[in-house]
Amino acid sequence: MHQTHADRRTRLMAQMGEGIAVLATAPEVIRNADSHYPYRPDSHFFYLSGFTEPEAVLVLDAGSGRSILFCRAKHPDREVWDGFRYGPEGARERFGFDEAWPIDELDQRMPDILSGQKSLWWGVGRNPALDQRAHGWLEAVRQRYRTGEQPPAVYHDLFALVDEMRMVKDESERAILRRAGQISAEGHLAAMRATRPGMYEYQVEAEILHVFIRNGARYPSYESIVAGGGNACTLHYAANNARLNNGDLLLIDAGCELNGYAGDITRTFPVNGKFSAAQRDVYEIVLAAELAGIDKVRPGALWNEPGDAALRVLVQGMLDLKLLNGSVDGVIESGSFRQFYMHGIGHMIGLDVHDVGQRKLHGAWRAYQPGMCTTIEPGLYIRPADNVPEALHNIGIRIEDDVLVTDTGHEVYTEAVPKRIDEIEILMQGI
Ligand code: GLY
Ligand code: MN
Ligand code: MN
Repeated sequence: MHQTHADRRTRLMAQMGEGIAVLATAPEVIRNADSHYPYRPDSHFFYLSGFTEPEAVLVLDAGSGRSILFCRAKHPDREVWDGFRYGPEGARERFGFDEAWPIDELDQRMPDILSGQKSLWWGVGRNPALDQRAHGWLEAVRQRYRTGEQPPAVYHDLFALVDEMRMVKDESERAILRRAGQISAEGHLAAMRATRPGMYEYQVEAEILHVFIRNGARYPSYESIVAGGGNACTLHYAANNARLNNGDLLLIDAGCELNGYAGDITRTFPVNGKFSAAQRDVYEIVLAAELAGIDKVRPGALWNEPGDAALRVLVQGMLDLKLLNGSVDGVIESGSFRQFYMHGIGHMIGLDVHDVGQRKLHGAWRAYQPGMCTTIEPGLYIRPADNVPEALHNIGIRIEDDVLVTDTGHEVYTEAVPKRIDEIEILMQGI
């Protein structure tokens, strides 16, 4: 694993060619009083280091190929309260850095590291506190002008390079993403099996979190959406405190975070295990749109193709349901479909649930490459309105899977949780 991180650093430095790169991990954040939010390292920092302690900075010297970590010093008293710290020496050995120093020496050592370097590779505008400190380091080098020392004169956007690397998942990332997808799918399966009319949304959420934690994924990769009936029409519904009614649908959008990597699955199913005729009509449209989108994910296809294909299916469905009038092309051109489908087809997924990477370059859609990973997640959300048949009121449906681009096509690695109507009904009725 740590060889993987070392290899990533080597690849990054080869692209830099020369100069110094600096990345800090995320700070700890207080929730209230003496309680912190669960700590999670910065994704870029973690991608290149594998190191998960707060208060750490990674420095890469592309000219010499050396990686330097600054981290918290060992502190026996604090470790009694807060747990183990590697300390610089332990971190250097365990994670394969060339040098490691206490974080308290960062300001003292950085001017020496920067002096005489041509370029600084930096996460421009990402971390104001680090920007401020860097001003101090650069100023310290400028103050040495009598000895002829100079700070870097060229500044590059470091994250543009790292974002590109993270867009294509390497073998170790693919394995973790698959496992995160599998655990997320198991959580959804448990939810489908447990759901009954009269339960509360949070009780279903508990079933999902139980599966995540039992499998070593302590936290979800985003706040779980467990939305019964009309709550599904609120895209980021997070209250999860309503009772589930017989006859309603339940939309669940939940995924675990495993070793820093996100799962992200949505399923929608009937609270009582049996789709009504109206629910079935809408569901089949969303499912057909999802399958049409997934079908377009393959090497060489452009990033807009899945979304375009899914949209055509959704719009044809809206016309069939008499939600809208006109032609598919006319509705797409006018944008009137947004009354019922107001988000995009999906996003890259990886360390961040909405992962980094540019889908367009110089205004043109890019092509999928093996190792890229995306969600496909169309939906229809039918709020009551004058132009909406009453039988469809408050039906909100989304179906979402995580899809890896392979050498020859794609791999839907979250499909262990059923999405066909007959499969869902059989599972829920325990037949
Ligand atoms: N759960 C966040 C998303 O689907 O994008
Ligand atoms: Mn998603
Ligand atoms: Mn989602």
